[in-house]
Amino acid sequence: MRAPEHPTLLGDSYIQDPYPQLAAWRGSGEVPLVRLQYGISARLVSRFDDAQLVLDSPAVSKDVRRALRLLGRDDDVLSEHMLNADPPEHGRLRRLAAPAVVRGRAAAWTPVVERIVTGLVDRIAERGGADLVADLAIPLPILLICRILGVPRSDVELVLGLSRELVEQSGPEQVARATGALNAYLSELLVAKARRPGDDGLSLLAGHSAAGRMTATQVLSTAFLLLFAGHETTTNLIGNGALALLTHAEQFHRLRADPALLVHAVEELLRYDSPVSHATIRYTTAEVRLSADRVPRGRFVLVSLAGANRDERRFPDPDRLDIGRVHHRHLAFGDGPHTCLGAPLARLQGHVVFRALAHRLPRLSLAVDPATLVRRNSTLVRGLTSLPVTC
Ligand code: HEM
Repeated sequence: MRAPEHPTLLGDSYIQDPYPQLAAWRGSGEVPLVRLQYGISARLVSRFDDAQLVLDSPAVSKDVRRALRLLGRDDDVLSEHMLNADPPEHGRLRRLAAPAVVRGRAAAWTPVVERIVTGLVDRIAERGGADLVADLAIPLPILLICRILGVPRSDVELVLGLSRELVEQSGPEQVARATGALNAYLSELLVAKARRPGDDGLSLLAGHSAAGRMTATQVLSTAFLLLFAGHETTTNLIGNGALALLTHAEQFHRLRADPALLVHAVEELLRYDSPVSHATIRYTTAEVRLSADRVPRGRFVLVSLAGANRDERRFPDPDRLDIGRVHHRHLAFGDGPHTCLGAPLARLQGHVVFRALAHRLPRLSLAVDPATLVRRNSTLVRGLTSLPVTC
């Protein structure tokens, strides 16, 4: 099957609701050429088996910086981290960085997560209503990851603002400004951590640079990745998950009635409206043969995790939310060597948040027509700009 000559733009209607288009592409097995923000075109993979194959294939590289340089684009700032590396360097960088986010077990952070959630939910309950995005989904993950990495509480708002500018890319100038500002901020903080190390993730990374295990650029890029990936994703799990429960009252009721469903519910919410809609971009170093199409060597590939997680070949009745679904080996955290490093932290936050929503706010309901809700302007993450509720 041949890809269309002119790339399809992943525009606003796709961002608001990609599922009908993804179902059509999955149905035909087509791997269409799509155009992303910034004018890069990539082949989009949306069947579950194809997605898994691409994410696991040694013929698909994550070192896309090399390919971008060939196109005359310099994307080096803050990008020398594991997510842009291939084996064996990828594994080395990942092993060095992992203890910065999960020293020991993620469960060690349970008391911190519970304290933050209790404070946020108390405030929502007192006011009788809230924007669940601004008042819960955004603050929890950023407060947690800043605490883990050792970003001072007084700088959280600054870091959050810059990171949101990066996700909702309104143009190259804005992205360059936000990247430059984050770069400057993190560089200064890492110097301070190297001088006076604390018991935190950034101090651990700064130590790698001092000991020559990572270059200063790798440390800076890794700090950025952990900070960014640590919250922009989980925010969308909380927002999308809350919306899914609020628009499926019978499922929310099941969760309230049977707390044992919580673990399954979080996996189903991750599958049903995946917080990271597309994996980061990849590049083929050899031809990749998929179920009904092929991607030649030397092309960018984009894997639709949202599409794969609604594949009818994998999940019976995939458009139905069913928090009791037991077979949910989904791809919301990716697959293969780059599988999410922070998945245990993300799940922990999901468990604490959805338990609190189910049991602390029994009258929680949407304050607006769900058709009026707006999605964030991103083809990487899938999230809501706001979620007004009453309780
Ligand atoms: C619901 C929340 C989250 C979702 C849905 C999610 C999703 C993902 C996905 C899909 C990938 C693979 C991307 C690719 O292959 O292109 C990934 C990688 C990664 N995630 Fe997460 N993530 C979440 C939370 C977190 C958290 C809390 C952290 C903590 C720092 C984190 C850190 C990372 C890192 C470091 C990588 C790169 C791994 C590598 O390249 O080896 N993520 N995540």
